[in-house]
Amino acid sequence: MITPLIAANWKLHKLPSEGVAWLETLLRELPSKAHEHVQILLNVPATHLAPMARLARGTPVALGGQDLSAHNEGAYTGEVSGAMLGDAGASFVIVGHSERRTLHGESDELVNRKLKAARRNDLVPILCVGESEAERDAGEEALAVVLEQLRTGLRGLCVSESSALVIAYEPVWAIGTGRTATADDAQSMAATIRSELRTLYPAVADSIRLLYGGSMKPANAAELLSRADVNGGLIGGASLELDSLLAIVEAAG
Ligand code: 13P
Repeated sequence: MITPLIAANWKLHKLPSEGVAWLETLLRELPSKAHEHVQILLNVPATHLAPMARLARGTPVALGGQDLSAHNEGAYTGEVSGAMLGDAGASFVIVGHSERRTLHGESDELVNRKLKAARRNDLVPILCVGESEAERDAGEEALAVVLEQLRTGLRGLCVSESSALVIAYEPVWAIGTGRTATADDAQSMAATIRSELRTLYPAVADSIRLLYGGSMKPANAAELLSRADVNGGLIGGASLELDSLLAIVEAAG
């Protein structure tokens, strides 16, 4: 039995002070038993981590970063290392989000180095994979794109516990567009990912959490999360509003 992971991705939204106030309300309103069935994770801007993590200590809410440097330290202006994220209170980090790939030109090779940097620093990486609209329209190509992102992204990465890795399938055409993959589409790609993980990590593949991301919201969450290989969500827009995030947590529980 896999505990579902409901992971917010706040992207470039909210101020640190607003994040703290938001989290205070979440902790007040979170049904007392919700966390027994669902793990809740907030991937926030790096500036928000320390004050929010102080508040979240001892609660069922975990915090994560949205990106990290492939380097440990050095002359890399503007970068944030895995150790810095961990010290500020993160236990997870998103790696290879499609917005990083398209807006910042991140290659599968760089994503691979970032995944290794995350593991070196005891952060659980959430590797994002997903095809563009053109690739989906080209049929088989969507599968090839996702498998390539997975194989190159995970090359040489040792995973001996299922809790040390999360994969998020986020079709690019569904992100921030209001268009969602059908539950069958999400399950079908998740099953393909699971099958690849069985080759890479046979001992733990069946319990690695696979998330769906792309316009997940209260209205479609229960249906998406009902599928066998959809073990949670990576949620952008709908995670900014407390009520909608709580409704998704409830749908997962
Ligand atoms: P939306 O939920 O806003 O479509 O964003 C999804 C996403 O990119 C999460 O990482």
